[in-house]
Amino acid sequence: MDFLEQGYAIEQDANDKLKHFREKFLMNDSNLIYLDGNSLGMLPAATPRRIEHVITKEWGKNLIRSWNDGWYERSKEIAAKLAPLIGAQPDEVIMADSTSVNLFKLAYAALQLQSGKKAIVSDELNFPSDIYLLQGLVKLFGDKHELRLARSHDNMGVSKNEIVEQLKDDTALLTLSHVAFKSSFLYDMKEITDLAHEKGAMVLWDLSHSAGAVPVKLNDCNADLAIGCTYKYLNGGPGSIAFLYVRRDLQDQLISPIWGWFGQKDPFNFRLDYEPAVGIQRFLAGTPPILSLSAIEPALDLMNEAGIENLRAKSMAQSRYLIQLYKHFLEPLGFSLGSLEKDQERGSHVSVHHPEAYRICKALIDPDTGGKTVIPDFREPDYIRLGITPLYTSYMDIYEAVMQIKMIAEQKLYNRFSLQKEKVT
Ligand SMILES: Cc1ncc(COP(=O)(O)O)c(C=O)c1O
Repeated sequence: MDFLEQGYAIEQDANDKLKHFREKFLMNDSNLIYLDGNSLGMLPAATPRRIEHVITKEWGKNLIRSWNDGWYERSKEIAAKLAPLIGAQPDEVIMADSTSVNLFKLAYAALQLQSGKKAIVSDELNFPSDIYLLQGLVKLFGDKHELRLARSHDNMGVSKNEIVEQLKDDTALLTLSHVAFKSSFLYDMKEITDLAHEKGAMVLWDLSHSAGAVPVKLNDCNADLAIGCTYKYLNGGPGSIAFLYVRRDLQDQLISPIWGWFGQKDPFNFRLDYEPAVGIQRFLAGTPPILSLSAIEPALDLMNEAGIENLRAKSMAQSRYLIQLYKHFLEPLGFSLGSLEKDQERGSHVSVHHPEAYRICKALIDPDTGGKTVIPDFREPDYIRLGITPLYTSYMDIYEAVMQIKMIAEQKLYNRFSLQKEKVT
């Protein structure tokens, strides 16, 4: 069957070994195509039941006794379910705070350990919040560090040479997003980690756009540190608790800058002198948010059941299909590709550019446009990001979304929408 025909999508969906996972998510709008799981994952059908149990039984009935009946260990338990998805040992991962706060804690600790070195390296494709945090750390350490950003030759990816140009013997820390939030560019983690180690730099990976979509091999790559969020491909819910990873042999050499009681050796001895806990627990600060932690578990169970290698294989096949459709239907209409074509250089979303990207997104989301409602997202200045979430994205979703984009662009239906941007795009 020709891939340009709708029948091809139907055939691929019928042969999809992971298709039954789609039913495990709450989908109550048959007119909706959701391609934004790279920003906010969908709600697993089991999550409301799980949360209801935590609220009514564990909190409502058991009250504070629940701290000794499971809550105290919950962040470790959830981390143990996340560990295989990111190639780490269970005692190297912990759920804590937000991605931003975790970046602060680990980057601060790394800079302290590497106090003889005076440069921090990142890249210009990194998520701005990560760069802001590094700028703040430079100030906090008394303007002693130089923050250098590797340039991108094509605004899509960063080559090994572009990293090498910035990595010198003075580099304390290299920190990068494993997958770039706009273009979806995917670094070769092993190659870049080795490069940094040759220069004596520590490496901190932001896995927000790869955890749950791309098999991450932190241990195999000998990565030092990592952080990431759980509300994208890990489907933990809006603002859900983040995670951090510290390689086992580094844990007792690093000290969190936030000396909270949950990172203390024995929080309930209530002694007045801080002594950091042994192991990963020292990177906790305060009381973990039990509702948020509990909400992540059903999604992690689904992901471990599906298998991260199977999810990646489906994501790559679907991304290739999307790019093929884009070339045939959208490129002639003034779109250009904002992601790299090689599978091994791309995460799980595909970006396309168009001068009217913002208003095309508005038209896709508006139910009055006609046809199906498609939810992608927009990133400045002209990116439409189409997220592929292999647990629930179907080939038909992709086909219909491309047809909808084509119709909106051909008929210039975006003209009906204001150029005024909303607060959240
Ligand atoms: C790559 C990346 N890093 C960091 C963040 C910031 O995460 P948070 O706002 O949860 O701290 C985000 C948010 O989307 C992100 O995409």
